Amino acid sequence: MKDTIEKIFQDLSQLKAATQKEVEEARIRFLGKKGEITALMEQFRSVAPELKREYGQKLNELKKEALARIEELKAQACQAASSDAPAEDLTMPGDVVPMGSRHPVSIVRQQIVDIFRKFGYDVAEGPEIEDDYHVFEALNFPPNHPAREMQDTFFVSSGHLNPLLLRTHTSSVQVRTMETQPLPIRVVCPGRVFRNEAISARAHCIFHQVEGLYIDKDVTFADLKQAILLFAREMFGPETQIRMRPSYFPFTEPSAEVDVSCNICKGKGCNICKGTGWLEIMGCGMVDPNVLKASGIDPEQYSGFAFGMGVERIAMLKWQVNDLRHYFENDMRFLAQFATATEV
Ligand code: DAH
Repeated sequence: MKDTIEKIFQDLSQLKAATQKEVEEARIRFLGKKGEITALMEQFRSVAPELKREYGQKLNELKKEALARIEELKAQACQAASSDAPAEDLTMPGDVVPMGSRHPVSIVRQQIVDIFRKFGYDVAEGPEIEDDYHVFEALNFPPNHPAREMQDTFFVSSGHLNPLLLRTHTSSVQVRTMETQPLPIRVVCPGRVFRNEAISARAHCIFHQVEGLYIDKDVTFADLKQAILLFAREMFGPETQIRMRPSYFPFTEPSAEVDVSCNICKGKGCNICKGTGWLEIMGCGMVDPNVLKASGIDPEQYSGFAFGMGVERIAMLKWQVNDLRHYFENDMRFLAQFATATEV
């Protein structure tokens, strides 16, 4: 028995087990139910009493040694297993996160606003859900004007006196600005507007406008023309010409429609300008005295001009997009083309 104990001590010192599985096999070999050390323990019962003390001590040491050795091998196997896992390669290039870009409508709205900011205009905004007063009444729309009909306007409430509706133009922000801001006023009002229109290549029920308003003493139609000419040249290039055609809006008198020279054919006539050499970009005019009065401004002392343009329309002309619906469908192949179009 003494020899067996010595042999097992030796075996333990040379024991190798690289994996968890091998460690477990070694444990079973020495300490399992039929293990070598377990067998020695059985034999110990029949050892002569005078040898029991000596052998007992040796056996205990052996068992302790076996347990310690197995623990040691187990720890080594564990460490090996975790360092075997494929290490992260820190030199790998990172995942590319695709860069988004601004929507073409946002780009153009910003360009319009930036141009007028340079001329000293502030930016004003107002609510999209408006009341009849700010969208129509204060802007001199007669009570039976067709724009007030259900087929043109989305109504939110049907109150007879001053129903709530989705604003059909940003001219409502003119009124709110005149009501609240001190004179002189020089603002542009960008925003979303809503009209009850069938969706087509040229019309949508939601679109964007930028409204402009300038009120001071002695503002004339010549000032309006100059502001719009400067804007058109900043927007469409320094060669751009403008022309004004008489028009009608309830809130301006006189009123005009503004065309810019076609920047594609340079005025010669092409299919974008339908052979005319001109592209319509906005409505404008001198603020009607009734509109000034409605917001508490004395038309004897002050005068002003206003203009309003569709952002999608300007964007379509700038980039020759022939179908308005592209701006709303958000097809990435369309949007990605404007990723670099941020310059004014
Ligand atoms: N509000 C008009 C529209 O939605 C655009 C407009 C025309 C605004 C003339 C103006 C203006 O301020 O003077 O069609």
